Amino acid sequence: MKKIWAQLEALRAAGEGRDILSLFDGADRAQDFAVETEHMRLDYAKTQIDADIRAALIALFEAADVPAKRAAMFRGDRINSTEDRSVMHWALRNLEGGPVKVEGTDVMPEVLETLQRMRIFADEIRTSDITDVVNIGIGGSDLGPAMATAALAPYHDGPRCHFVSNVDGAHIADTLRGLDARKTLVIVASKTFTTIETMTNARTARAWMADHGGDPSRQFAALSSALDKTAAFGIDPARVFGFEDWVGGRYSLWGPIGLSLMIAIGPKGFDAFLRGAQAMDLHFRAADPQENLPVMLALTGIWHNQVSGHATRAVLPYDQRLLLLPSYLQQLEMESNGKRVTLQGETLEQHSGPIVWGAAGTNGQHAFYQLIHQGTRIVPCEFMVAANGHEPELAHHHHLLIANCLAQSEALMRGRSLEEARRLMAEKGLNGEELEVQARHRVFPGNRPSTTLTYARLDPFALGQIIALYEHRVFVEGAILGINSFDQWGVELGKELATSLQPVIEGARPATDKDPSTAALVDHLLKHRD
Ligand code: F6P
Repeated sequence: MKKIWAQLEALRAAGEGRDILSLFDGADRAQDFAVETEHMRLDYAKTQIDADIRAALIALFEAADVPAKRAAMFRGDRINSTEDRSVMHWALRNLEGGPVKVEGTDVMPEVLETLQRMRIFADEIRTSDITDVVNIGIGGSDLGPAMATAALAPYHDGPRCHFVSNVDGAHIADTLRGLDARKTLVIVASKTFTTIETMTNARTARAWMADHGGDPSRQFAALSSALDKTAAFGIDPARVFGFEDWVGGRYSLWGPIGLSLMIAIGPKGFDAFLRGAQAMDLHFRAADPQENLPVMLALTGIWHNQVSGHATRAVLPYDQRLLLLPSYLQQLEMESNGKRVTLQGETLEQHSGPIVWGAAGTNGQHAFYQLIHQGTRIVPCEFMVAANGHEPELAHHHHLLIANCLAQSEALMRGRSLEEARRLMAEKGLNGEELEVQARHRVFPGNRPSTTLTYARLDPFALGQIIALYEHRVFVEGAILGINSFDQWGVELGKELATSLQPVIEGARPATDKDPSTAALVDHLLKHRD
């Protein structure tokens, strides 16, 4: 591994400052540096990756034993070693895929039975007088269903779905205001059924429903793997949908945690969503590295972050309905690969996963793209866009959307030289010192890398593919770095300290054991409390 990392570093240094555009000279780079499947295309030609770099990246993939690690995940081995768990969210979408044996037991009958119960329940709700569904959850129990439900708005034909996650009372108050408690279903989504934000919101929703003429004993459902706790909360077992500990929170959208999405788009739409993800699983398992979408997306990420030192990655869907995708990917990527030690507990020799951020295009263009084009740091960008929108009567909007998406990646690569800027200023009638100064402000350094993912239309199948693509990309990056992408110990300390601070904020005990800064903040907040 060390040798390949060094080789990659040497290749990076040798190509420093090289013009990406020059890589297209005399070569069919546009075809060669893209991965195309039946349904989508990933273009990574607008990066510094050339044939030698790609070969070294693929050598890294092999040397890190990623194929064996991938096989271990799909075999159900306990690869999440710090929690002693298998990683099998992919089994939730293994429709007609045959048995999946874990330590001798086939998990599929139970997976399919739960899926069937979800379908029956979703249909019941969709044909009842329920007008609104409120999903209460946080992290993986919120971001996935909220993102996917927004993404598939054109396919909604069920009750309206709302998502409450934040413990800030503003979130639940704003959501419940205006809802009819007699016609609302509350879904408490929590794998552990202990998460303080979710349980606090669930209790508030239960009191609201009881106070406003609803019946919590009939209008609450739970999605959890802690069946004893859902029972203690008083939720009828017939409306509890369980899943196993081999489904990580941020990978749980494919099973019960996807119930709100299934209610919104119907069981058939949800099946198509699962089938999209399943198609990506099959592709990921079978395709050669160079033809493998998740592998090449991951290797591009490794090249930009660990080799080239670009600490962040912007995700820029030119698809308004994917506006929550950056937040979803922040959990998927940063909770999975934001680690500092290897599986063996040794300090990582490379940086961990990148800082992921972004927004839907074209809005981002009018906010932060200035920095992406002319700032001093390089931000590798990941564009995505569909060939078709869902509003045929507004096709001209979609044409503009695509034009903007492609224009941005072109501008990032091409840039504008000082010579061109001078010529533009001269055309405007400027000269001398003023021409020079004005021209300098209008220079774009260019050579800024991006990838572009294109697909036919954001339908349930395509969305399933896209999410599974990102899941496997995270897997490959984590496997190359040698880390456990499936635990999240880094979120624990803050939770513990919040618990210890709660009585202090409630005024039940002084902040004597806190550092002076925290104590002074507590003091200020208590002094100003009404
Ligand atoms: O933020 C930590 C975390 O454990 C996430 O991994 C998880 O998705 C989220 O909290 C919610 O957990 P639960 O579904 O158990 O309420």
